[in-house]
Amino acid sequence: MKYLIASSVLVITLIIGFFFLPESFLSGKEIPYDDEQDGLSKQIVIRFSHVVAENTPKGLAAQKFARLVEEKTDGLVKVEVYPNGSLHTDEDELDALIDNDVQMIAPSVSKLTNLAPEWGLFDLPFLFDNDQDIEETLSSELGHRFLSLNENKGIKGLALWSNGFKQMSSNLNPLLYPDDFKGQRFRIMPSPIIAEQFKALGAKPVEVPFNQLYTSLQEDQFDGQENTISNIYSRRIYGMQKYMTVSNHGFLGYAVLMNKEFWDKLPKEVQRDIQEAMSETTSWMISESQRVNEEQLNLIARESSIQIYRLTEQEKMEWYQALRPVYQKFLQTTNDKEMKEFVKKRMDHLETH
Ligand code: LMR
Repeated sequence: MKYLIASSVLVITLIIGFFFLPESFLSGKEIPYDDEQDGLSKQIVIRFSHVVAENTPKGLAAQKFARLVEEKTDGLVKVEVYPNGSLHTDEDELDALIDNDVQMIAPSVSKLTNLAPEWGLFDLPFLFDNDQDIEETLSSELGHRFLSLNENKGIKGLALWSNGFKQMSSNLNPLLYPDDFKGQRFRIMPSPIIAEQFKALGAKPVEVPFNQLYTSLQEDQFDGQENTISNIYSRRIYGMQKYMTVSNHGFLGYAVLMNKEFWDKLPKEVQRDIQEAMSETTSWMISESQRVNEEQLNLIARESSIQIYRLTEQEKMEWYQALRPVYQKFLQTTNDKEMKEFVKKRMDHLETH
């Protein structure tokens, strides 16, 4: 009986083996060595999460960067871009980066002010006159110092990107003079300097994460907001606000960040390729954000009934006078000599021109 069971097991094993043996074994042919397969197992994947739409300056820059990295590393590094907060919202993307759940994010610098108050510098109203000013400052020594500002938190700064200037909008009345803001509720990003800006205008700042912007506006949680045209357009905020002022009063910059431990472990040649791809993307983005914002402003004017005003130089100066306390507030938050000098120089410039 034992002999019968043993031989049945052997026969069954042989039958199964026959069907599952690789074709090469049966045919005697050798399978060629698969180079691509081997490459895939060594591929480095960078998950890059951000909160805005793909057709915005940041969305487009993230895609360009991903393409350049893949090209420069011959496919060794793959950058997977997750737009629209599909992976992480701006409430948890920083933690996700620190935990290495994602390896790259590009939050607006305002959202980093709780890590270091110095980031608030970029939230000062009328800090820049034009895109050239922005580019010069971001690529200056002062700009570069921001990249290492949060290394002690395990964050490596790769670049500062520009999405150009923010504009104001409201559902209650046109915003042309400082008094027009009085009593209104404005959605803001979490930044003490931006909060101060609205308080100085007699308005009430309300912090709302970007992914809740549309619904909170629908639910009437605030009356107005400030953002770049690309965000006003892609989030369809223009459809829910009656008045918009092209004020160019604020700057929206992004800090492109990587998990530091992940970065430190990358081979030197890969780091070099990533840095090259990043610097090409950063220079491209300055003009690209200008192009996208201009194009989408025309679309808003064409597609909606929002009333658009353009602030004159004289009106800008009236806003600045009302907003001077915001500069004082920033000067109190930092001991950094160079930053203080930069800010004072800017105040002198605004007051004498
Ligand atoms: C916002 O929250 O309004 C912006 O920071 C969104 C973005 O990343 O452009």
